[in-house]
Amino acid sequence: MSAHDGATGIIKHRMDSMKSLQDASKTVGNMFKGKTDYDLSSMRSASETFIQHGEVMADQFPDTQESREGHKTEALPAIWDNWDEFTALAEKFTQDSRAFDAIVAELQSLPTLDKDSIRTARTAFFKAAKNCSGCHEQFRAE
Ligand code: HEC
Repeated sequence: MSAHDGATGIIKHRMDSMKSLQDASKTVGNMFKGKTDYDLSSMRSASETFIQHGEVMADQFPDTQESREGHKTEALPAIWDNWDEFTALAEKFTQDSRAFDAIVAELQSLPTLDKDSIRTARTAFFKAAKNCSGCHEQFRAE
């Protein structure tokens, strides 16, 4: 059983999307925490996943009754009360993810990974990932 058993429609759709973000985030986080080896192609697919889901995030929160009150949703009404702020956060997440993606792409073109490049990628990753908790604190129920 998972937290979103029973969710349907737009709610299930965005929960699945968030789940993909969580998986991607974990994959990269584990590399920077030294739990797994650096693997630039999985890092790249994670950065691409961030961008893809970031770009459609605002669209996944339409102002409809289903979206606001659907079964299992943790989305707070604050989203629609502060729509500009919510979409700005989604947009910032996407921008930061693009910056992270560009750095990973650059690393892929290097013959070897040095400490400085890893540090740059690490900083960019955590900058993008900070938007996750930043948005959840304001717009997602505990
Ligand atoms: C702009 C706001 C915003 C950003 C950015 C954001 N999220 Fe979310 N996230 C939400 C909201 C709102 C929900 C609740 C959705 C619902 O329950 O309908 C949510 C739900 C989730 C869930 C729970 C899904 C479930 O199955 O119940 C996970 C996991 C998650 N987000 C991970 C992430 C990760 C990881 C990132 C960043 C890589 C991220 N989110 C970025 C707003 C955001």
